[in-house]
Amino acid sequence: MVATPIEDLAPRSEDEVREHLKSGKLVEGLQHMSPQYLQGIRRILTVSADTEFVSAPAYLRAAQHAPALNNFGSAMSIVQDELAHAHIGYRLLGDLGVDMDWLIYERPAAQFKYPYAFDVPLDSWIELVAANALYDQAGYVLLSDVHQSSTFGPWKRALAKVDKEETFHLRHGRTWLKKLVKDPAEKAKVQAAIDWMFILTLEWFGLPDERKRHGIQLEYGFKGKSNDELRQAWMAAVVPFMEEIGIEVPAHQEGERYVIDCAFPRAFDEASKTWGEKIGWEDVLVRWKARGPMNEAYVSKLQRGYRTTSFRR
Ligand SMILES: [Fe+2]
Ligand SMILES: [Fe+2]
Repeated sequence: MVATPIEDLAPRSEDEVREHLKSGKLVEGLQHMSPQYLQGIRRILTVSADTEFVSAPAYLRAAQHAPALNNFGSAMSIVQDELAHAHIGYRLLGDLGVDMDWLIYERPAAQFKYPYAFDVPLDSWIELVAANALYDQAGYVLLSDVHQSSTFGPWKRALAKVDKEETFHLRHGRTWLKKLVKDPAEKAKVQAAIDWMFILTLEWFGLPDERKRHGIQLEYGFKGKSNDELRQAWMAAVVPFMEEIGIEVPAHQEGERYVIDCAFPRAFDEASKTWGEKIGWEDVLVRWKARGPMNEAYVSKLQRGYRTTSFRR
């Protein structure tokens, strides 16, 4: 891949971008971008598109356990939505000078930038619907924030559709969980799934604010809320719902805020999907960087058709 240098693609100076944004205008394309803006928007779009993309094989694999054919159909429509969401992100990255074939089909699995949670397999229908209730809720919180705050016009507008579909995904999860908890045996399985998945989704929002400065991301309006604010928004949606259906989670409300009740961040055993002792964020970064058990398999599944049909390589 011969990539055009970012300086040649984004003609504006940082001051010009600040002026443009200050006058209340959106950034509509490369012609309005500075190198820093371009780099930043590419990064956040890549994380978002990769997350949507990898959720497809993760959900597809778990959908095999659907209790009935019509349930499999609902799961498939979610998978289709996720692929369409990924397409929106990658298409925009193509407009921003990124080689889409490389990005989607040739990039090594370890270079994909989705949250670690998706590297841990969803092994049952219960884990799939729990993912809809937790992971799609996280996606919804993140994307609603981008939808509200983004200064990049084409993405902001596209997210109106994505937001509605994510609402359907998380409602799918909640409806199923509500139904499952009525049976004590199923309820115990839901509790077991939430036990490992809840903390993994807390991690999804990244380093705490005192560890990470978001300067450029907030200043250029790639997002509106900080990591900790997004984590709070997610807990505010998930914790009351879990209380309502009688599922225990290690967090509770204190005044306006939600407080995490367990050691966090923690060591995670991938094989048994269990949490261990408290660790530092440096150790979490090591686990994230190493990627988890499904990384290779999912990316290879997504790239298989290209490998067998492309004449480019
Ligand atoms: Fe999505
Ligand atoms: Fe989704």
